[in-house]
Amino acid sequence: MRKILVTSALPYANGPIHLGHLLEYIQTDIWVRFQKSRGEQCTYVCADDAHGTAIMLRAEKEGITPEQLIERISTEHQQDFSDFLIAFDNYHSTHSPENKAFSTSIYEACLADGKIETRSITQAFDPEKELFLADRFVIGTCPKCKAEGQYGDNCEVCSATYNPMDLINPKSAISGATPIEKDSEHFFFKLSEFSEFLKDWTRSGALQPQIANKLAEWLDAGLQDWDISRDAPYFGFEIPNQPGKYFYVWLDAPIGYMASFKNLCDQRDDLNFDDYWKAGAETELYHFIGKDIVNFHALFWPAMLTCANYRTPTAVHAHGFVTVNGKKMSKSRGTFIKARTYLEHLDPEYLRYYFAAKLTSHVDDLDLNLEDFAQRVNSDLVGKVVNIASRCAGFITKRFDGKLAAECHETDLLAKFTNAGDEIAALYDAREFGKAVRKTMELADLANQYIDEKAPWVVAKEEGKDAELQQICSNGINMFRQLLTYLAPILPSMVEKSEAFLNVKLTWDARTELLLDHSINKFKPMMIRVDLKKIDVMMEASKEAVAAEMQLGKKPDSEKQAEQSNLPGGEAITPEIEFDDFAKVDLRVALIKNAEHVDGAKKLLKLTLDLGTEQKQVFSGIKSAYQPEDLVGKLTVMVANLKPRKMKFGMSEGMVLAAGPGGKEIWLLEPHEGAQPGMRIM
Ligand code: 2FM
Ligand code: ZN
Repeated sequence: MRKILVTSALPYANGPIHLGHLLEYIQTDIWVRFQKSRGEQCTYVCADDAHGTAIMLRAEKEGITPEQLIERISTEHQQDFSDFLIAFDNYHSTHSPENKAFSTSIYEACLADGKIETRSITQAFDPEKELFLADRFVIGTCPKCKAEGQYGDNCEVCSATYNPMDLINPKSAISGATPIEKDSEHFFFKLSEFSEFLKDWTRSGALQPQIANKLAEWLDAGLQDWDISRDAPYFGFEIPNQPGKYFYVWLDAPIGYMASFKNLCDQRDDLNFDDYWKAGAETELYHFIGKDIVNFHALFWPAMLTCANYRTPTAVHAHGFVTVNGKKMSKSRGTFIKARTYLEHLDPEYLRYYFAAKLTSHVDDLDLNLEDFAQRVNSDLVGKVVNIASRCAGFITKRFDGKLAAECHETDLLAKFTNAGDEIAALYDAREFGKAVRKTMELADLANQYIDEKAPWVVAKEEGKDAELQQICSNGINMFRQLLTYLAPILPSMVEKSEAFLNVKLTWDARTELLLDHSINKFKPMMIRVDLKKIDVMMEASKEAVAAEMQLGKKPDSEKQAEQSNLPGGEAITPEIEFDDFAKVDLRVALIKNAEHVDGAKKLLKLTLDLGTEQKQVFSGIKSAYQPEDLVGKLTVMVANLKPRKMKFGMSEGMVLAAGPGGKEIWLLEPHEGAQPGMRIM
């Protein structure tokens, strides 16, 4: 029996799980379920990545402690994962005593080995917030091309790279204050001293060739030492004996894998921490990650582990990004789909199947083409697989009291199904899920051909052919059972329903024993067709969620980019604008003439706003905070010259102004009583 420990990257505790994340958790979960179904001891751990400036600032903005924020987000994340049938053996947090202990001891081991040094560095500092600013928290005019609103590391217009303080008119993205330069002592991990070790390790077979080649370029160019400290205020672990200095979130994030596993070992007698982590351990350790965080997992992490006398990973498996209908997932394009929004409309197993059908062992991006998604699930799972059972089960139940034939007369055909299991298993093990699915669907085609040829519905009408009918249908059911065994890692809920129908547990090894003279239960379809309308509704709901966020003054942006740079909760920095830009905004007092619920909209209310001379219809994302009847007759402030936008429910001809963190805490701005509808705000 293999002993395998598996991890997926730890999601940041400052934002929701979305379909981009899910590719990784689904990929890992399928692999883990496959190993378990083969009888291996495979353990899958994860945790929330709970530290960093972004989380600290988001909590501050919401008026809660970081501890409260990470607890709430952890609950949300775990619910999303569980609803997508991701079966972790343990889900922990990087803000845990175990993680503090490991982070401290690993740091101390590196320190004792002479691999930590301190250097004074000069950084931008926000004098109002009293906070050092990471490069992307400073915004200003590009010194080269003069483009406004550029981040402090590089210009998105001319690609120039520079230091944040080189920006013309730099501003803190947090407070708007002009940053000053300030020196501070930082702690560095001497990564450069691990160059030779890493050259060997990255070529040891632990990485996909594409990744190893990329890293070879970096290794040849020479490695920089790694800044592992951040100054207070910071939400994280304080560095031992260094008051006011904290471990950078990326130091303790991967250590969170160990911490989560240790937390599990403390609850389970059959798992021993050292068996999996001490240097020279013979167990296997795999990290599944996105291609964007390879440097952390394939350079810093093995270097730190080896320095602290732990084992290095057996392999790091990187995957590409998810695109939706060929485009990058983005809020402004309306292709940013949260796990929760998907779950409100569609079956999680559709997505598990679609991702599996397209996954390879390579690092390529994966496109979720929604038409193809529906077509594939409907044709493969419903049209081919479920159909086999549905064509055979009725006869077995009605004519043979639920009993399958006592013998099989199609041993060659059935052997094809059983024998294919070895090839399919090898494909799963190699993370070639798409190929495993294709192979399984070829078998499904064979089964359907067999049923077509034998036409049990014709045989059923013929006198004296009962035995033949039972034989055909029993073969069909046995083939269905093999197919479900092969699809089990992908479709756990469909398997559960099939087990109830077949009255047997589906395990990889048991597939070799055919079900003969065996009673099955009444057939109920294990999956229904994807309803195209529901996909449309889900896409609209995703747009609606973004519109509701925008209503609260947040800008659409790339969540991922924000996470990587550790910016607050996926929000774009608001650049300074000229007075002329501001003057273009026509802010008016409006009387709420009417307010009503919108059929099918979860977040929006439809408002009729009276400006004295004209009325405008506005859809506003304030439903969580207001009952329509409480709004009628109130005065509020609206952007009256916003270009009308076509939404699913109709045209929205402006925007009302509101403030607050969200949920029940949204407050519509209400002008003083003396104001009259139509008055211009000055
Ligand atoms: O990129 C991210 O979302 C990080 N939170 C992943 C951390 S993975 C591990 F190192 F903890
Ligand atoms: Zn520029």
